[in-house]
Amino acid sequence: MQTAEVQTRDESLIWRTARIPVKHWGQSIKDLTEMHPDVRQTVERFVATWTQRYIPQDATMTQLPEDRSLVGKGLLLFGNAGTGKTTTASAVLTTIRRSYGGVVFFVPFADYVQALIDHRNWRDLYQATGDELARERFIQLQKMLDKVLTCPIVVLDDMGKEHHTSSGFAADVFDALIRGRHRNARPTILTSNNKPGDWDKTYNMSMQSFLTEACEVVAMTGRDHRRAA
Ligand SMILES: Nc1ncnc2c1ncn2[C@@H]1O[C@H](COP(=O)(O)OP(=O)(O)OP(=O)(O)O)[C@@H](O)[C@H]1O
Ligand SMILES: [Mg+2]
Repeated sequence: MQTAEVQTRDESLIWRTARIPVKHWGQSIKDLTEMHPDVRQTVERFVATWTQRYIPQDATMTQLPEDRSLVGKGLLLFGNAGTGKTTTASAVLTTIRRSYGGVVFFVPFADYVQALIDHRNWRDLYQATGDELARERFIQLQKMLDKVLTCPIVVLDDMGKEHHTSSGFAADVFDALIRGRHRNARPTILTSNNKPGDWDKTYNMSMQSFLTEACEVVAMTGRDHRRAA
C-alpha cells in the first residue's frame, strides 16, 4: 500500500519534469474517450511501432529494424482550435513513457524559440560581466535546449504561433531542429493550426516537403471540444 502511494507521488515528478501541461498529467491514449477512430488508430500504431521509430544512439546494426521507413518518423497533428491536438500529443508522450520508459518532453515551440534567444543573451551578459546569476540562467537554458534536441521524443506544441522576424530566425531554428532529430532517429510530434500545404508560408518550401518525411500527418477534425455541445 505504501509502495503504491510512493509510486503515485513519484509519477507527478515525471510529468512535471517532462513539462506536460498539468491538465494532462497521467492521461494515456486509452483514457481519452472522445477520439476520432482514425486518429486513435494512428496514435496507437505510433506507440506500437516505437522501436522502429526511435533508435538509441548506442544501437548496433543488429538492432536496426529491417524496414527503415519509420526510423525517426513522428506525427504532425493539425486542425482547428479545440480539436484536441495538445491533449492527444500529451497522451502519446504519457503512453510512450509508460510503455517504454526514457525521457519525454513537451514544449510550446514559441517557448523554445524564446529560450534560444534568452540563452544567447545570458551567455553574452556572463561573458561581458562574469555575473553569477547570468551564468546559472545560461546553464539552466542550455539543459532545456539540449533536452529538446536529444530526448527520444518531444512535442513541439502550437507550431506557427511563434513570433516571426524578417531574419527568418524561427524558420531556421525549426529546420535545424526537425532535421537534426530526424537524422538521429528521434521522432518529433508537432501540433499546429496550419494545414500542411500552408507550411511554406510560415517556414519555407523545402521544410514543407521535408515535413511529410519527418512526420505522419494526422488531421484533427470534429467539433471544438471547448464549446458546449
Ligand atoms: N479526446 C478528448 N476527449 C475529451 N475531451 C477532450 C479531448 N480532446 C480534447 N479535449 C478537451 O478539449 C479542450 C481542447 O483541447 P486541446 O487543448 O487539446 O485542443 P487544441 O486542438 O490543442 O486547441 P488549440 O488549437 O487552441 O491549441 C480541452 O479542454 C480538452 O480537455
Ligand atoms: Mg493546443
